[in-house]
This record gives sequence, structure tokens and C-alpha cells, in this order.
Amino acid sequence: MIEVIVTSRNNEALDICSYELASVEGHALPAFSAGAHIDVHLLGGIVRQYSLCNRPDEHQCYRIGVLKDAASRGGSKSLHEHIHVGDRLQISAPRNLFPLVPQARRSLLFAGGIGITPILSMAEHLAHEGAEFELHYCARSHQHAAFVERLKSSPFADRVHLHFDSVLDITAILANPQADQHLYTCGPGGFMQHVLDGAIAQGWAEENLHREHFSAAPVDTRADGSFSIKLGSTGQVFEVPADKTAVQVLQSHGIEVAISCEQGICGTCLTRVLEGIPDHRDLFLTEDEQAANDQFTPCCSRARSAMLVLDL
Ligand code: FES
Repeated sequence: MIEVIVTSRNNEALDICSYELASVEGHALPAFSAGAHIDVHLLGGIVRQYSLCNRPDEHQCYRIGVLKDAASRGGSKSLHEHIHVGDRLQISAPRNLFPLVPQARRSLLFAGGIGITPILSMAEHLAHEGAEFELHYCARSHQHAAFVERLKSSPFADRVHLHFDSVLDITAILANPQADQHLYTCGPGGFMQHVLDGAIAQGWAEENLHREHFSAAPVDTRADGSFSIKLGSTGQVFEVPADKTAVQVLQSHGIEVAISCEQGICGTCLTRVLEGIPDHRDLFLTEDEQAANDQFTPCCSRARSAMLVLDL
């Protein structure tokens, strides 16, 4: 955990604020790579992930952009209403679940709305490296689009395409896929799906497509049943009923598992599985890692076998 102080706060667009965070002692902050996010700990024990939108070679501050979400579960609302310049926050060190592929010859960046935050950091990095890229930024209107002036005055302004009034012609942009071209998209789920469906239709390979997850898609839990978890260390067995997660059951018995997103996105709760077959519901592990069945995310994943023995 790192304690930071809010050194500036700016209104960037309708319902979007940016926050600049610096170390309380004035030290350099841990290094990060483009696409990384931090966990921000808020009032009431809420923890939320926000992408860093500054240049990865800036070590004196982190910048985040926060959309005040009408459907906020408390995170963005709390930041907008209660966090001002001079306030202190607890944050995690940066982690990157959305990294650039270093060997890509060309990168295509697609941002929808607040999804511009990691994409901005990626563009800054690629421009700094002299890499080939183009950025497409879609928003409901100019008023809803953050960081537009920063993009327009950037050294890479000629590679930025704003789609506030015009339609994104995905077919034309994604024609001619190449093995050394990579696509990155961040934004609302429907926007990302539109971009990715367009890429697939144009023959892009799955491994060249990269998306950031702000939140997990809802999972149909109606067929969920109960299962047992056994602690490898003590042999204690607990029943996980259909309406509870493994983390909730563990916590109710005083066994703490670190959690953050509680949606299978961040990997904070990752726990080793010694026996049994998990029913993976996360977006954190790769397909190969899930198939190995030796770890799972107890905040959301369940079990295909009657029991899971956990390395706890
Ligand atoms: Fe984030 Fe479980 S708490 S994956």
C-alpha cells in the first residue's frame, strides 16, 4: 500500500475528473508500464481500479481519470464528491493486465468514453518510442470526451482520430490485418465488442486483439449449486452455498483472503488449488492457466467438482 496526496484535480469533461497523485514524502512512485492500473482505497472499504493515464516515464506522479458513473456502486461517486486537492489516499502499486506487445510493428488504439485513460498512456509511450500507431477516440459528444486538448496539442496529434460526430468506420480501419499489428480497445463493453467483432470479421487473429476490462459482464448464476472447500493446512471443510462466494464463506470463518475487484478481474484473491476442478469465472487467468486448474479466484469462481482443496 502506498499513501499518496492529491496534488491536482481537474474537470476534464462532463462528469469526468482527473486526479494527480504524488507520494506524501515527495519520493518517486513505483514504475509502471502503459496500460497499468492502480487500486484506490476509498471510504467505506471500497476498492476500485483506475487506469493510469500519464506517460510511463513520469515517476513523480500518477494521473487517473474518473467518470462519475450513474450506476456507481460507491467508487466514482465517492471520489467525485469527497476527494479534493490535499486529501490523502491509499493506493496499490501499479499492475498491468493490459500491456502493449513490445514486438508489434504497428498498434491500433480504440478508446470509447472514459476508456481513453489507458489508451492515452499507451499513445504517449508509443510516440515516445517512435513506434507506429493510430488512435481512434469515440465519445457521445465533445462534451463527454476527456483530454481532447491534450491529444490535440500532443506531438502525435496527427495520429489521433476523434469520432464525436462521425461514425467509426471499423471495416475500413481494420481492413488488411497483419501478424505484426496489434489492436487495443478500452471502453464500455458494447463499444469494445463492436471493435473486436469488426476485427474478427476482417480476419484478425485473436492473439492480436487486446481489451481492458472495467467490469466483468454479468454471469448467469441461476444454475449455481453448492460445493465444499477444504483448507489444505488444517483440513477444515466449509460448505459454499449457491448464494455465497468462496471468499464470503472463508471470511465468515475468520479466514482472510485479500480481495479487491471482487469480479475476477484483478487477480488479488488468486488462491492455489491442491485438489478438485474449479469452475473459472474470472477474466484474469489466461485460458491455459485456467485449464491447469491449479489456482482460482475465490471472489467469483466456483467448483465443477464436489470439493476444492485450497492451499490455505
Ligand atoms: Fe479481484 Fe478476486 S478480488 S479477482
